[in-house]
Amino acid sequence: MDKLIIKGGRRLKGDVTVSGSKNAALPIFVATILTSGMNEIGNVPFLRDINTTIKVLESLGARVEGNGHLVRIDSSGINSHEATYDLVKTMRASVLVLGPLLARFGTARVSLPGGCAIGARPINLHLKGLQALGAEITLEHGYVEARAKRLKGARINFDISTVGGTEHLMMAAATAKGETVLENAAREPEILDLAQILIRMGARIEGAGTDTIRIQGVPELTPASYEVMPDRIEAGTFMIAAAITGGDIKIHGMKPEHLDALVFKLQDAGVEITSRDNVVRVKGPKKLRGVNIKTRPYPGFPTDMQAQFMALMCLSEGASVISENIFENRFMHVSELLRFGADITVEGNTATVKGGRKLSGAPVMATDLRASASLVLAGLAADNTTEVSRIYHLDRGYESIEKKLAGLGADIVRVQE
Ligand code: EPZ
Repeated sequence: MDKLIIKGGRRLKGDVTVSGSKNAALPIFVATILTSGMNEIGNVPFLRDINTTIKVLESLGARVEGNGHLVRIDSSGINSHEATYDLVKTMRASVLVLGPLLARFGTARVSLPGGCAIGARPINLHLKGLQALGAEITLEHGYVEARAKRLKGARINFDISTVGGTEHLMMAAATAKGETVLENAAREPEILDLAQILIRMGARIEGAGTDTIRIQGVPELTPASYEVMPDRIEAGTFMIAAAITGGDIKIHGMKPEHLDALVFKLQDAGVEITSRDNVVRVKGPKKLRGVNIKTRPYPGFPTDMQAQFMALMCLSEGASVISENIFENRFMHVSELLRFGADITVEGNTATVKGGRKLSGAPVMATDLRASASLVLAGLAADNTTEVSRIYHLDRGYESIEKKLAGLGADIVRVQE
């Protein structure tokens, strides 16, 4: 296993370009199952989770060329409708193949994803929605079996905002008979990206990106080409890297409007942020102010930026109250941040960070994707040396993060553990 060695205390300077979005690319890859032919997906990031999704598609019979930037997916050869546990357990998002396989073949068998470090992450709303579309669902031996001659449009109201659930049902409804309305749908930009490629494939979708999505089923979808949107969470992570090191960087290729909630909170904390034609300049202040955040579904403060923001608040003057309202166990980074000398107390889903102290480098361990990013950020700001182990978590969602940070002047190297 690899680890990162970081010598902290350097102010980041210079330019960095954001890669394509992991959380847009994954459902977009899955949507190719609904077509039969060659799909060309551009701006795909080189990530472990992309490689896993490619393995899932190949296990179903698709032919895939490339694993990053341009990826060609020929879905004409898909002949299996089973996604096995060993693949789904590596990456939960693979469960999204269930609806498209069911829509295309009338039957599907997909392993239940199981939980992960940040929570139980059930898929009950996915399954309830598929049943509303007419699927017969049975659960046995850890697998979901689904059957439906042809899915029929329905009105579906989500009890809670679910990104994966909204994506799953938008894909399943695309070729269902009649109209489907998704109410209380999630509004994340990645959902709009998925809708765009589905529309290019011939789907009829209105309202993606709002909380009500209308889908008129069409008989079939045809292959498409599409450029994946920039990764807003990678962009937000680099914004915090500049803020936490008192640096001054320019981030290219990001869409600042995808991160309004984060930008406003960083500005409240004293970070200077200006943007001009897709280049965002971020200048860290001499003194950071403590700011409270509550994670919320989009357009609220993104849960995927909570751990990174907490690392920043460790250095701010005063206190910061951080409440995590999306996942039940997303404070795994707290115990590792304490090893840097941070002062953080957790009460239920709320963490209180007392800032105003220097962080000192330490050996720490990554536990999940965004927690790992938070440890890297703390290491950049801490004095002395930090070693972050188990960075396979980081490689799931950040393309060559150490190269990009080194390009900004950070003293960071990857070594074999
Ligand atoms: C997506 O996960 C993202 N992953 C997550 O990013 C992100 O944190 C999350 O959305 C929230 O924004 C991908 O897009 C691949 P949800 P998803 O369904 O779809 C509960 C990262 O770091 N829920 O919106 O799984 C669920 O337990 C990852 O890149 C149900 O109860 O998230 C959670 O508490 C981490 N029943 C809440 O809803 C369901 O059927 C939000 O989950 C579905 C979800």
